[in-house]
Amino acid sequence: MKIAVAGKGGSGKTTIAGTLARLLGRRGHDVLALDADTNPMLGVSLGIGPEETDLLMAVRQGVDAGHIGHEPTLEGMVDTFGRDAPDGVRLVLASRIEKVDPGCPCCGVSPEQLLRDLEGDNVVIADLEAGVGTLSRMPENGVDALLVITEPTVKSIEVARVVCALATERHPEVEVLVVANRVTSDTDRDAIAKGLDRDVFVVPEDESVADADRDGAAPVDVDDGSPAVAAVAALADRLDVRSKVSA
Ligand SMILES: Nc1ncnc2c1ncn2[C@@H]1O[C@H](COP(=O)(O)OP(=O)(O)OP(=O)(O)O)[C@@H](O)[C@H]1O
Ligand SMILES: [Mg+2]
Repeated sequence: MKIAVAGKGGSGKTTIAGTLARLLGRRGHDVLALDADTNPMLGVSLGIGPEETDLLMAVRQGVDAGHIGHEPTLEGMVDTFGRDAPDGVRLVLASRIEKVDPGCPCCGVSPEQLLRDLEGDNVVIADLEAGVGTLSRMPENGVDALLVITEPTVKSIEVARVVCALATERHPEVEVLVVANRVTSDTDRDAIAKGLDRDVFVVPEDESVADADRDGAAPVDVDDGSPAVAAVAALADRLDVRSKVSA
């Protein structure tokens, strides 16, 4: 099953993608977390820390510099440009490199191609770049579910509206779920639900998420019972995740 996470910049995509990946990993799912942002930070929300997250980017850039060989297969990419995170999650960077070798699968690959080609028994959770770019280029069968993250602000809701419209028009087969993030009141939730004319899934504003961010840690490692983490756990229930679950 492939789940993409989209929304406006700063809406909470990485926080929610990383937390969801960790929680599904804990439930025994084989999770591949795909960082499709050009400024990859998913490693931090997954709990490998900012230094290791930077290191992963350096490995990817090493292809540009010629220190690291190209990887012609998807398995090779996941191996070389990936790293294990806690709870059995495998993190992979999909970021492009500068000097693309035409025809080389590892450096010509785009996040949307990767998402299409990553088939298997695992759950893929892709943290997309802000806005609609990746989604507008997404081929058929790129994803099964789309989480549209929005804060209760007019600008964030507007981006979510465009993302939802694009998904509905181009990918009617995809399950679209709106996540109202950083909600502090019913007024916040209603603003999003009314603005998008959709049911929304609420993730509350949570101090421990801010604490985690300050310390470069994963929200689940700071407090796995915090309101936001509990809400993401409920989101995982709601998603009806289909994948192999190891015993
Ligand atoms: N539920 C929440 N409660 C409190 N703070 C939150 C919550 N969700 C996200 N944040 C904070 O909001 C900020 C943005 O979150 P995050 O980096 O996940 O957003 P993003 O959509 O991935 O951003 P970008 O577009 O830059 O990649 C971070 O400082 C994060 O700690
Ligand atoms: Mg992000």
